[in-house]
Amino acid sequence: MKKRVAILISGRGSNMQSLIRAMQEPGFPAEPAVVISNRPEALGLSWARDHGIPAVAIDHRSFGNRVAFEARLHQALLEHGTDLICNAGFMRLLTGGFVDRWRDRQLNIHPSLLPAFPGLDTHQRVLDAGALVTGCTVHFVRLEMDSGPILAQAVVGVIPGEPVEHLAARVLEVEHKLYPMALKLVASGAISIVNDTAIFPAGVAVSAPVILPIVPNGLS
Ligand code: GRF
Repeated sequence: MKKRVAILISGRGSNMQSLIRAMQEPGFPAEPAVVISNRPEALGLSWARDHGIPAVAIDHRSFGNRVAFEARLHQALLEHGTDLICNAGFMRLLTGGFVDRWRDRQLNIHPSLLPAFPGLDTHQRVLDAGALVTGCTVHFVRLEMDSGPILAQAVVGVIPGEPVEHLAARVLEVEHKLYPMALKLVASGAISIVNDTAIFPAGVAVSAPVILPIVPNGLS
């Protein structure tokens, strides 16, 4: 039985697209159940509808508080028979009640090598710090933002002096490969969580696309 995946978005939804495309490949152990956005204007909603995926807007601004918003979100997830949630550029902080209900069934992607650089403006902070490598991480969701057992990571070398948009685009390209790979592992039941760490059984190859670090100018 394929796992039914709900994708939560807030914007353009390019990771959502890569997940849906992967799920449409024969033999993938998961299928799209619904796309839900907390922003009705999110571009990803219309893309999903155009591709025959149920797409729902649940505007967080029409609820009095986070718990009321999450109750509606939870209800929509159940209505669509959700087994797993993939957060893909979903820009709402979730309360402990929601996180606990979907514990070890909710994934997120973040554009850095966590636990380094959690939070917003990630790529600018990477550049400001002079980091030579960055990348992206897929992890299970826990209460603290951008924390939780790590499922997959990919490394991207920083090019000295590159504009932030350039770095963001290069990392995003890798995100689109990494997230489907991590979802496949989870949906196939290969992963267990022990002591809040993801355990990969022997024989399961966990390979991530690695873009080798670029040696900074002046070094060789
Ligand atoms: C991605 O960089 C993702 O890692 C971060 O938000 C961005 C969403 O982009 N959480 P998109 O909506 O998937 O294009």
